[in-house]
Amino acid sequence: MVKVITYGTFDLLHEGHYKLLQRAKQLGDYLIVGVTTEEYDQARGKLNVMDSLMTRIENVKKTGFADEIIVEESQGQKFRDIQKYNIDIFVVGSDWTGIFDYLKDYCKVIYLERTKNISSTMLRAQMTPIQRIGIIGTGRIANRFITEAALVSGVNAQGVYNPHTKSAKLFAHKWGIDAYEDIEKFFDMSDMVYIASPHETHYGYIKQALEHDKHVLCEKPMCLNKAHAEELFKLAKEKRLVLIEGIKTAYCPGFAKLLGIACGGTIGSIRNVEACFTKLEDENNRELKDVNYGGSFTELGSYCLLPALKIFGHAYEDIRFESIKDENGIDIFTKAYLRYPNGLATATCGLGVKSEGKLLISGTRGYITADAPWWKTNYFEVHRENPDDVEKFSERFLGDGLRYEISDMLSMINGDKKKYFKLTRGDSVALAGILEKFQKGMGRT
Ligand code: CTP
Repeated sequence: MVKVITYGTFDLLHEGHYKLLQRAKQLGDYLIVGVTTEEYDQARGKLNVMDSLMTRIENVKKTGFADEIIVEESQGQKFRDIQKYNIDIFVVGSDWTGIFDYLKDYCKVIYLERTKNISSTMLRAQMTPIQRIGIIGTGRIANRFITEAALVSGVNAQGVYNPHTKSAKLFAHKWGIDAYEDIEKFFDMSDMVYIASPHETHYGYIKQALEHDKHVLCEKPMCLNKAHAEELFKLAKEKRLVLIEGIKTAYCPGFAKLLGIACGGTIGSIRNVEACFTKLEDENNRELKDVNYGGSFTELGSYCLLPALKIFGHAYEDIRFESIKDENGIDIFTKAYLRYPNGLATATCGLGVKSEGKLLISGTRGYITADAPWWKTNYFEVHRENPDDVEKFSERFLGDGLRYEISDMLSMINGDKKKYFKLTRGDSVALAGILEKFQKGMGRT
């Protein structure tokens, strides 16, 4: 019996897939089809797959060509599958010519001519109109956003607004987009708005964008006031618009994996979460100059509070802050202490103090550690009582990581409600509430 294997995402199954499977089946007696998981696709940079794994498997099954369907979860699996299933022929489309030659030592490798003028990417683009993104703000993060957005199919960074028109024009020139002086025209052009302006302007811009019926992705901290966050989410809900806070950690695949393992009981019941993020900032930067909205906690607190909020929830019994301040009164180092009914958490942030920057989650049966930059989680370990009992996990984190939140935002705009769990409205409201308490404690109201 000649056994043939092929792999693919098979999103929005189309004629090209059908013909490939048909020809693959004709090459032998038994065809195995490997269908990729969403996680694997994300890890290899293929974002925005529309059909779920189950739908894609069902669609492959319906072609009637597959004798067996398996799931492809990781790189290197093809090599193992070929040996495991005793494969004679590996088949794939001609867009992969040469890439799988390394398998020739184990089986025959055939590249079949790709069907012209059809692809899942093309179909996705036809089904969902390109979202034109208007950017408010022209700082460092806005620059990173442009390069990351370019990697997500289905969106296009189109224009920029900044009341300082000179900055807007420079930014627009650098990236080949349009600068807008008139905010009404800016909103007219945008389908969704990315807000990366100074913290204190977020509320006003979000409100304006929602009132103009635009979806909004806003940099963290979205709001420094709980009532403001609640009001904005209410408005977004009423208008059926997507509003999310851009905390990249929440959307990165490695962090989702870490949470899944932490909350899945592997280390027992979780009793302590410690998250630390420090960075030595140039003393002339806004973060260390702005006496009302600058400092380590408003800048980095959202990252460090996220693990505790995701693990313990929002109902903490007590929170207090300790800060080291510079001569301007700006906190260069802050520790937030949270007490929950059955757990403790600390969030440690530094802009003028450098520390190790770890995430530590302790439970009744073991602990999880992720080293800096855990906020771009790509590696973590699970430890137990026996020091030799260490499980190691890794996940890719691509580029600056903004592509994950942009891609999830796009899925939400296209109606995928499932993506909301990564950073819920409740999470963002809780964060705003904590930042409000911190600001009050600093005498900044
Ligand atoms: N394929 C093909 N002809 C096409 C499209 C895909 O023969 N027009 C083949 C691919 O070469 C691969 C298999 O079908 O062997 C599964 O491809 P997949 O990546 O799922 O499909 P694409 O349409 O290429 O998807 P995307 O646009 O998301 O890359």
